[in-house]
This record gives sequence, structure tokens and C-alpha cells, in this order.
Amino acid sequence: MIAIRSTSSADLRILLPQVRSLMNRNRGLGYIPVSARGNNGFTKIIQRGNCIVALCDDHLLGYVAWGRMVPLNVHRVYQIVVRPEIRRMGLGTALLARMIATVRSDVVAYVREDLQECGFWERHGFEELLWYNHPTSGNVIRIYHRPWS
Ligand SMILES: CC(C)(COP(=O)(O)OP(=O)(O)OC[C@H]1O[C@@H](n2cnc3c(N)ncnc32)[C@H](O)[C@@H]1OP(=O)(O)O)[C@@H](O)C(=O)NCCC(=O)NCCS
Repeated sequence: MIAIRSTSSADLRILLPQVRSLMNRNRGLGYIPVSARGNNGFTKIIQRGNCIVALCDDHLLGYVAWGRMVPLNVHRVYQIVVRPEIRRMGLGTALLARMIATVRSDVVAYVREDLQECGFWERHGFEELLWYNHPTSGNVIRIYHRPWS
């Protein structure tokens, strides 16, 4: 049975190592701003509930993490990831849908244009707002936007 829910401080001990491990095994994930990270990786994001996780018992299957683009009421997806062996089964869609229902605002995602995952955003009604060259890597980054509706 898969549970999809938001996080709190009580989850730190169980989830933080699993989030780190999943994050480190996936290339192309978005950057987590220092202001959102806390001293310990994902700590602040989990504590604030700015993360939706998919769990089977205590086993992490995937997560989406985000932050608000202050002062705008726009939320930015920092990272979304599902374990490779269970992709294309709808879990990424379920995580994103729960996030959108939680933030109830426009959402943006910064995505490397060479990733196949661009198709995931387009499938969910995100449109390219603009693109830029990442200042250090030189990668082309697409900023996808989905208006709140
Ligand atoms: C992006 C990600 C979270 C999607 O999770 P998922 O559970 O596989 O997504 P879903 O099964 O809900 O996909 C829904 C639809 O999105 C589109 N989609 C999903 N992954 C896609 C891909 N790699 N390429 C093109 N389209 C894709 C498809 O239209 C898909 O529907 P379909 O399977 O019926 O064709 C997952 O591929 C992942 O973890 N990728 C690695 C991490 C990453 O790159 N994250 C995003 C960085 S911006």
C-alpha cells in the first residue's frame, strides 16, 4: 500500500537519509537553494512540509520538494524524483498533483532541456516561459510554468 503525504519534523530521522540517497543517484535534479536547505541538506524543507513523499511502509518511493518564490505567490519545484524501477506508473503525476493541491498557486520548474523528463512537465500543462544558459555548467535550462487553475 502506497501512502502519499506531506512531511513534518517527525519524519527527519527516517526520511532524510533516504531522500539524500535517492537524490544522489539521480542526475539532472534541480538545485536546492541554501536558504531552503538548512544546515543538514533537506532539513528545513521536510520540517516546513514543503515536501510530499510516496512511502511503502517507511520505504521512500519518491518525493517532490518545493519552495515559494518570495515575494510572489509562485512555488518552484526544486526536485521531483521517483525510483527508477517504478517510473511510468503514475507516481510522479500523483506527487505533482498533491503538491499543486497543497500550494494552490502558479508553479514553475527549472529543467535541463536535454532531459527526456521535459515530457513530464509538458504532459501536465506546463509551458516554457523562457530559457537561459546556466552560468557555471552552460546547460540550457527551461523554465516551465503552469498557471493555477
Ligand atoms: C520525472 C519523474 C519524476 C516522472 O515520474 P513518473 O512516475 O515516471 O511519471 P508518470 O508515470 O506520472 O508520468 C506521467 C506522464 O508524464 C510523461 N513522462 C514521464 N516521464 C517521461 C519521460 N522520461 N520522457 C517523456 N515523458 C515522460 C508521460 O507522458 C507520462 O505518461 P505515460 O507514461 O502514459 O506516457 C521520473 O521520470 C524521475 O524520477 N526522473 C528522474 C529525476 C528527474 O529527472 N526529475 C525531474 C527533473 S526536472
